[in-house]
Amino acid sequence: MDRLTLATIYNHPVAQKFVNRAGLAHAIAVAYHAFRMALERDVNPDLAVKAAFLHDMGHYQWYRNGQWDYEQYRLHDIHPIKGAERAHKLLIRLGEDRRNAKEISLAVLFHTNSFIPDGQVNRTPLQQIISDADEADEEPSGEHHYRKIKLETAWKKIHELDLKVDQALNVQENQNQFNKPQI
Ligand SMILES: [Fe+2]
Repeated sequence: MDRLTLATIYNHPVAQKFVNRAGLAHAIAVAYHAFRMALERDVNPDLAVKAAFLHDMGHYQWYRNGQWDYEQYRLHDIHPIKGAERAHKLLIRLGEDRRNAKEISLAVLFHTNSFIPDGQVNRTPLQQIISDADEADEEPSGEHHYRKIKLETAWKKIHELDLKVDQALNVQENQNQFNKPQI
């Protein structure tokens, strides 16, 4: 089966609603960081960019009188849990391989430890990438969620990243062929 692309994912109304709500510019920037880190750390770049692109889709907005309410957010936020569930449902709906959908969803779940009581998480390499990539794009006071990007530019970047992932997967496949013992 053909790879489910970021472009197909973002084309879905559920992704448009929730990725846009948490910040499209941030989602794209984190996906680019995750792609670079996946190549550096020998992790599947396809899973890394999808988990990174969807990592904040569980965000709810904690406003009170037009101001972000940090106390409410700290006490009640469960955006990694909601995000993991939404990402999984969306990916399955779009025909993603079930094993991949689970890996991606777990990477969304563990991208932050803000919701874990003792803050301790033992991450897989993929999960660690999403956490590091998110941190690499963070700005003080959550400003990264409000950074703007033109829709045209966003689509261009999404398509470019899809191409980069295809190329990286082809290279990996060729290397695997090459490394196979000859019988
Ligand atoms: Fe984030």
